[in-house]
Amino acid sequence: DIKTKPKEIELNESYLKITHEKLLSLKKGHKVWRFLEKRGINENTVKEFELGFSSGNEVEKSLDDTLFETKMAVEMGLMNNGKEFFYNRLIIPIKDPKGMIVGFAGRAIDEDTKPKYVNSKENKFFKKSKILYLFDKSKKYIEENDMAIITEGFFDAIAMHNSGYKNTVAVLGSNLTKDHAFELMKKTNKVITMFDMDSAGEKATLSAIDTLFSKNFQIAVANYEAKDPDELIRKTGKKNLAEVLKKSYKFHEYIIDVNKKHYNLDNEFAMEQYLKEMARWYKKFETYKRYEIMDAFITKISKDFLKDKELIEKILREHSK
Ligand code: CTP
Ligand code: MN
Ligand code: MN
Ligand code: MN
Ligand code: MN
Repeated sequence: DIKTKPKEIELNESYLKITHEKLLSLKKGHKVWRFLEKRGINENTVKEFELGFSSGNEVEKSLDDTLFETKMAVEMGLMNNGKEFFYNRLIIPIKDPKGMIVGFAGRAIDEDTKPKYVNSKENKFFKKSKILYLFDKSKKYIEENDMAIITEGFFDAIAMHNSGYKNTVAVLGSNLTKDHAFELMKKTNKVITMFDMDSAGEKATLSAIDTLFSKNFQIAVANYEAKDPDELIRKTGKKNLAEVLKKSYKFHEYIIDVNKKHYNLDNEFAMEQYLKEMARWYKKFETYKRYEIMDAFITKISKDFLKDKELIEKILREHSK
């Protein structure tokens, strides 16, 4: 490749090398290693995912006078008010699809430090709404398996890779965007979403379904008994993970069930709102000519509410006028 790498990226590479070496040089009793141990992350994983630690002077060490200036470190968000921005945090490199280090996240290593995560400032290389964490590593497996698993967080994606699901990416807590969908589309049109099992995760799942459906993806939704995939794997292991993935929800059934919970269907008004929401999806399926999904959708609703399919269809059509 004759194209020269941007200096900003070289600075990030230099910073990663130094923070990674720093972490490897620390004794296993150090608080960052105790944090990692608690999370089931060993030295091999630290090496594979190039994790680092910032003890306060790593930016300075990364600055090579001939190449970089302090100004660039400030621009790239490595320094702030004359201090190391990721100070006392576990460093997680964030790469673009080609493997260029475009940014970092810093994870607090104790549970009292807020915020839990800080990220590099957005810049021309680093746009959170475009980056899928670990896509650079996973893209070949996504293509081979013709399927991608989408999680929320860093440790979810790492734990999935460690469990053999190397076709996993993470959206880093933001919504799955059209840009994410375009990136995935280059490799597959089949996904399993595996967001957190809390209300934020449910919202993120519905929003992801909305975006992915419009791009003609086949979507399944993992449903499991833990906070997030990382916790699930630590608690119940790989075998159960395989079961969970196998039993993933059909996305249209997920829409029906999760909304039932959200709308708390104990009165007529709530029921109306619920049916309106179902009608909105029904219409969307029709817009995209997904007649088989429309049929499966009203079939399930009619079974759930012990009504005729024809009646449900009529109600949904009325509500979507
Ligand atoms: N996130 C962030 N800033 C925060 C909280 C979360 O950028 N203050 C992003 C991170 O990428 C994080 C993801 O959103 O991985 C999902 O958030 P959450 O579920 O709260 O965190 P976990 O990934 O579960 O973090 P951990 O397991 O380390 O506690
Ligand atoms: Mn979450
Ligand atoms: Mn989580
Ligand atoms: Mn977690
Ligand atoms: Mn009919």
